[in-house]
Amino acid sequence: MFETLSKAPGDKILALMGEYAADQRSQKIDLGVGVYKDEKGVTPVMTSVRKAEERMLANEKTKTYLGIAGNKGFGNAVLDLVLAGSVDRDRVRIAQAPGGTGSLWVLMQLINRARPGATVYVSDPSWANHNPIAIGSGLEVATYPYFDPATRAVKFDEMLAALDKLGAGDVVLLHGCCHNPTGANLTNTQWDQVAESLARTGALPFIDLAYLGFGDGIEADAYGTRKVVSAVPESLIAFSGSKNFGLYRERIGAAILVARDSAQADVTNSQLLNIIRGAYSQPPDHGAEIIRIILEDAELRAEWEAELSQMRERMLTLRAKLAAAIRERSNSSDFDFVADHRGMFSLLGLPGEAVDHLKAENGVYMTGDSRINVAGIPEDRVGDLAEAILSAIR
Ligand SMILES: Cc1ncc(COP(=O)(O)O)c(C=O)c1O
Repeated sequence: MFETLSKAPGDKILALMGEYAADQRSQKIDLGVGVYKDEKGVTPVMTSVRKAEERMLANEKTKTYLGIAGNKGFGNAVLDLVLAGSVDRDRVRIAQAPGGTGSLWVLMQLINRARPGATVYVSDPSWANHNPIAIGSGLEVATYPYFDPATRAVKFDEMLAALDKLGAGDVVLLHGCCHNPTGANLTNTQWDQVAESLARTGALPFIDLAYLGFGDGIEADAYGTRKVVSAVPESLIAFSGSKNFGLYRERIGAAILVARDSAQADVTNSQLLNIIRGAYSQPPDHGAEIIRIILEDAELRAEWEAELSQMRERMLTLRAKLAAAIRERSNSSDFDFVADHRGMFSLLGLPGEAVDHLKAENGVYMTGDSRINVAGIPEDRVGDLAEAILSAIR
């Protein structure tokens, strides 16, 4: 049987992590891996999460199955967090899923049941896993213009012109905030225009919301999602609790669907639950219960929001410091975009040779497309990093 298989391509980020681990230089810097790191270079368990976990262990009475849609309190709390009052809840259904990835996967399967082989339009570039999840679900993938390598900002006019040409039956995958890999995001006015375009063309918005709270705060980061969802009859959202709750390995996320009315929501949701049942039957509870406890308890929620703000502020400070350090050393504003970007990543727009040079000469690791994880910048090494980047492009 297995002799028919050839080796699948390895994961580039995992390979980069391996190279970094094997590098013996004490001054090496890891800007590759996509997890938040604190000033000690550690991805911490948030204090609010630890407290919720202790409460959960003390109060848990059973380990019986959760049900296909998962933890109901978690679902309601996530809907409040993501949508607030932006859409009539009668039209909304939510199913807990294993991470943002699992949520994307079940929703792509749902799209393929509704419109087999439909085309999902993703930003150019997009998160590396969007394409395989869509293709693996039987869908086609095409791109819409997004990142302008010259300005390192969004090519908005081109993006909008492309979206305007789509129609009912097409799917548009949008990063709700903190675009990965570029760090370049839409302004609120641009979100308004995107929402208006989608309402006009009838293309289905599918929002990947993996970094809520990592950009400018929960409310600011939810603007685009709420705007789009309230402007159109149908939409999908894949929510992840990996980054904002630091629950990466617990695999917690949610698939949200908004239908034109309650009856259609029930029918569509029955298909979503049927997909989940046939895939992994039911989700695990651990991460969901932690999030439920935090979001339902005023004190824990305030503590979580404060911790999230602290992470966000740290990333913003590092952005400002790196942009300033490069400006001082180069006497140019060429890298000021780093301070304008939001979220964990910035696409520096360096040629491949510069990325290789940084790794070989300076022990600075980033993905081959020159994406950096700003949370990985050691605060006391910002100057070194600025020098290294400038010497790599000289
Ligand atoms: C854009 C984007 N979407 C979704 C995810 C999925 O995250 P997870 O499955 O770990 O929750 C990630 C994680 O890196 C991401 O960057």
